[in-house]
Amino acid sequence: MTVPETIQKLLPECCGIGKQILYFQEIDSTNRLAKELAAQGAVHGTVLLADRQSAGRGRLGKTFHSPIGGLYLSAILRPNFTAADMMSVTACAAAAVYSALEEYGISAKIKWVNDLFLHDRKICGILCEGGFHPQSGKLDYLVIGIGLNLQKDAFLPQELHNIVTDIETETGLKIDRNDAAAAILRHLDRYIKEIHDKTFLRVYTENSYTLGKRVIVTHHGVEREALAVGYTQDCGLIVRFSDNSEDVVTTGTARFISE
Ligand code: BTN
Repeated sequence: MTVPETIQKLLPECCGIGKQILYFQEIDSTNRLAKELAAQGAVHGTVLLADRQSAGRGRLGKTFHSPIGGLYLSAILRPNFTAADMMSVTACAAAAVYSALEEYGISAKIKWVNDLFLHDRKICGILCEGGFHPQSGKLDYLVIGIGLNLQKDAFLPQELHNIVTDIETETGLKIDRNDAAAAILRHLDRYIKEIHDKTFLRVYTENSYTLGKRVIVTHHGVEREALAVGYTQDCGLIVRFSDNSEDVVTTGTARFISE
């Protein structure tokens, strides 16, 4: 059986994500190609999966180290969402990875907005990119890219040793990549379908790595220390300052004290 067939066999009929799966042994970036295909009209639920990426993309223009032994996938979504839903979609993806790992008995933590941590080190990064109609400015498609470190990485760059880890190192489990991909797609499909019921938000909140931690917030151009206390319905981070006033911050405007 091919990789796409193996994964599709594990998806229920109702799962709209993964009906079309494109598999690559090596690619520069599944997100890059997914955006190209989406712009050419690829259907909702198309998934790209690779064994390794030579130029994996992370947030803020960073590269995402993507050696063999990890899970690298991008899902193309054409939901009826606005740009304002993008934070929630990213959070849905984080909740989907959390719930997939829970099936293996692994309790990861979700760092706002979209990293998963295990034992205080990162095991998964998510990059959500949108394409907009040039005239209307409306959202045309979303690409959700997920990179999950499954196996020990003998070539992990030295500078990432204290920051990044993988499931095998932390738990001793050797998780099958295709099995994990199917579990993620199943949960992602469900959370996206239920996005306006906020099903993902309970999982996202209860397993937060961020809440209760101190963060530096850029507030009206000034950096202030605050405590992360909750999430809004749209996944904005609610922070409380020492004078007990609260504010909601969006991605890019808060960072952990230790970062
Ligand atoms: C981050 O941690 O900054 C986000 C990393 C996202 C990595 C995934 S791997 C699959 C997809 N293709 C990419 O080039 N990036 C995403």
